[in-house]
Amino acid sequence: MMNKNLVIAVDGHSSCGKSSFAKSIAKKYGLIYIDSGAMYRAVTLYGIEKGLFSAGNIHQNALIEALPSLSIRFTYNPSLSRYETWLNGRNVEENIRHIEVSARVSQVAKIREVRQQLVQMQRDIGKNKGIVMDGRDIGTVVFPQADLKIFMTASLEVRTGRRYKELIGKGEKVSREEVMENLRTRDQIDSTREESPLRQAPDALVLDNSFLTPGEQMEWLENILIEKGLA
Ligand code: DC
Repeated sequence: MMNKNLVIAVDGHSSCGKSSFAKSIAKKYGLIYIDSGAMYRAVTLYGIEKGLFSAGNIHQNALIEALPSLSIRFTYNPSLSRYETWLNGRNVEENIRHIEVSARVSQVAKIREVRQQLVQMQRDIGKNKGIVMDGRDIGTVVFPQADLKIFMTASLEVRTGRRYKELIGKGEKVSREEVMENLRTRDQIDSTREESPLRQAPDALVLDNSFLTPGEQMEWLENILIEKGLA
């Protein structure tokens, strides 16, 4: 029997399949899935659309001022079998995945006020619910008391290959090198920033999925949940 209010934190590097894994966990165990990265992406999209980036820099104060007026929420679209992100009443699921957003999101995610606001929203969403949340600081900052913390990783080559395939599949014009460079830069900024950097929580279990199928990853999880008496 699954505990209704089980909290599972999935953190790790960019593009190592955290969202896919977290979504299948949510589906299998009837938990709510929250993509915290989508929230940082939505704030970044807002900044781009409002012209708050110039010469590669962000007008931090203007973005911070706008934060209280931003509404970010998620819905599940059964006809497309996917979760969708809404920003101020507009479905932005496609827009937030563009490489232009990926290229700028780490800059936004290192702003303390942005993190404070989004962490608060993430905790509110998870209150008294069974939840799987993926991101970079879920086990360390957002839910330090999570029942299970998973730290996912995979080799840069494998991650590049997966993300490249995904973007090309969506019709984006990107090169492999551009994708690899984006992942490398994001990992670097995310891991070295001052505000809640990407770090493995001491009690997190590492899952390197470079050579694992989705089925094998789920098997790994099932065994852990049983071992811990959580399932
Ligand atoms: O998971 P993702 O690649 O969609 O996340 C986009 C960016 O947001 C990522 O480069 C780092 C940032 N992020 C973060 O700082 N903290 C989180 N909890 C989730 C994402």
